[in-house]
Amino acid sequence: MQVTLVILKPSAVQRGILGEVISRFEKKGLQIVGMKMINLTDEVLKVHYSHLVEKPFYGRIKDSMQVSPVIVMALKGVDAVNVVRKITGSTNGRDAQPGTIRGDYSISVQENIVHASDSDETAQIELSRFFTADEIFNYPQLMIQNIYANDEY
Ligand code: TYD
Repeated sequence: MQVTLVILKPSAVQRGILGEVISRFEKKGLQIVGMKMINLTDEVLKVHYSHLVEKPFYGRIKDSMQVSPVIVMALKGVDAVNVVRKITGSTNGRDAQPGTIRGDYSISVQENIVHASDSDETAQIELSRFFTADEIFNYPQLMIQNIYANDEY
């Protein structure tokens, strides 16, 4: 089992589609093991988007992520990092496949509804950036036998 980080961006909060987006992850069979609303500070964003800090458009990305609070979620499942990235779709909403979250809800590169960790290593780092150990919950997924074969998890 893997745990990955998702951020429901201000574009999801403001458009009132949090429930629909969260529902997609739940219906897939991913287990929500952490979830809270937070404000993203300048300091956290600089670290979170360190690969983009030098880009000319970093300022608008930062501003966009601070339009409102965001929801951070920890999602658990077999191969959760890859599964969540696939459900999320490619970065640019205009290119993202229909059926993905970005493909269905976004027509923008920046206002693209969700962030999802891109590797297991990044997921570990990003989860510890937004959650303390006691904010990630370990509880039985009661329908697990209807979600996976018993040799899959
Ligand atoms: P990135 O980490 O490249 O993509 P992803 O979110 O799919 O992992 O970029 C982070 C966010 O920065 C992206 O979700 C939207 C924004 N962004 C832009 O606004 N313009 C750009 O050209 C890029 C590359 C990203």
